[in-house]
Amino acid sequence: MSATPPAAKQRTPNDIGAMKGGAPVVCLTAYTTPMARLVDAHCDLALVGDSVGMVLHGLPSTLGVTMEMMILHGKAVARGLARACMVIDMPFGSYEEGAAQAFRNAARLMAETNARAVKLEGGVRIAETVAHLVAHGIPVMGHVGLTPQSVNAFGGYRVQGRGADGDRVAADARAVAEAGAFAVVLEKVPETLGTRISAEIAVPTVGIGAGAGCDGQILVVDDILGIFEDFRPKFVKRYADLGRAADAAIAAYAAEVRARAFPGPEHAFGESA
Ligand code: KIV
Repeated sequence: MSATPPAAKQRTPNDIGAMKGGAPVVCLTAYTTPMARLVDAHCDLALVGDSVGMVLHGLPSTLGVTMEMMILHGKAVARGLARACMVIDMPFGSYEEGAAQAFRNAARLMAETNARAVKLEGGVRIAETVAHLVAHGIPVMGHVGLTPQSVNAFGGYRVQGRGADGDRVAADARAVAEAGAFAVVLEKVPETLGTRISAEIAVPTVGIGAGAGCDGQILVVDDILGIFEDFRPKFVKRYADLGRAADAAIAAYAAEVRARAFPGPEHAFGESA
């Protein structure tokens, strides 16, 4: 008998879908192997988000993110996950032409990164594409409300679905859920709308700035750790201040090198072992 316990089962999109009405679905982004390991220990789902372009590559929006960037980060994240379901974003321009383009690129993302599912932004306008991917064996997570790849069409990162506009966002969520998405991200919508959509659709809603009535929550991991400081949306709660801790550590290192206080004798090698 082996002393090593069997590896924990990795969650599938079906497992996430089955969480509707049960325990909240805990999700975070991850872009690297070390961060994926940390996320894996506590979360149900790890998203290789195209936010990687802004968070790690300094891009002004997600529009410049490429398939190659997603594949590189997807491979890194897959190496760090044992339990969490891995979902990868389809970057801007990789699926909007229609079902054939979407399938080609989604299949490449899945095959090259080992992701369990892809995420696409959009509602009614991409519902047919979602249905095509699902029918051809690719689980899909939807993303409606504020969809950052459409920032230019929206004229900024504004709250979506206030007042009468709520029906448009609800129709988007229904369209992707009915097309077969196993879960739907609701971004930056009023809390009442997040709660309403969560009651209306049969699959889990995963909120980001959509209030406490959603079936789960997702945030960008660098935001909750206080590493990404470029902007701080209202919906982000900061659980650590690692950016400040890193700044202090780097300042201490620089000061010690300048003062010739580092390296000390304990960091140096002698002639003999
Ligand atoms: O790219 C991203 O990080 C996202 C969010 C839902 C967190 O899509």
